[in-house]
Amino acid sequence: MKKLFIVANWKSNKTKSEALQWFQELSTLNSQLLTLIGKEIIVCPPFTLLATFNETITKLQLPLKLGAQDISPFNEGPYTGEVNGRQIKEFADYVLVGHSERRRYFGEDEKMINKKLEMATKNGLTPILCISSIEQILNSQFPASPAGGSILNLVVAYEPVFAIGTGNPDTPKNADNIARVIKEKNDVASVLYGGSVTAENVKSFTTMPSIDGVLVGTASLDSHEFLQIITNS
Ligand code: PGA
Repeated sequence: MKKLFIVANWKSNKTKSEALQWFQELSTLNSQLLTLIGKEIIVCPPFTLLATFNETITKLQLPLKLGAQDISPFNEGPYTGEVNGRQIKEFADYVLVGHSERRRYFGEDEKMINKKLEMATKNGLTPILCISSIEQILNSQFPASPAGGSILNLVVAYEPVFAIGTGNPDTPKNADNIARVIKEKNDVASVLYGGSVTAENVKSFTTMPSIDGVLVGTASLDSHEFLQIITNS
């Protein structure tokens, strides 16, 4: 059975008290069951909540992993406002890189994205590289890992812009075709689909042969809906 990734991207949402409330509701999750059925549940909250999340996951023994939504392209140093890989690694195992909102609102280009991939790998984080078209992956030149060779275990999330936050997902068939082409590229371990995933449609994506999971934005903010997504996936 394939390992399924269910990733929550909270974007710029939730205060600490709202996050704790979400956790309480989610604590009905059964860790043993999830391990057995091979689902990796990853939550990517804003930076301000990573430390709280980390403590709560340990305290409530929740079967969740943490991811950051972004990473500095630099090491530590005089880069006001940036959070670097070593700081993220204190709390998280994953990091989203190149989300279409970062590309669109913050002007991230391939060069910047490659620097971020490099920083993630250097600090022992698994990057989840977000792309919105097949060209973006075919044109990308992944940086070499610091240990030599290419980045290992790269997870790619295919998220077409028309599907993000619109309630208008891509078709599972099209997403699966694209996932298959992406996997032909070296270094890609897993491909996720993202864009208007809900409890209702999740299974139509996760049962496709080349899709290894989903990246969920809006629907992950509601603990009940997210729990249902995990169950239905
Ligand atoms: P959405 O967002 O689920 O709200 O469409 C997905 C994403 O941007 O990761």
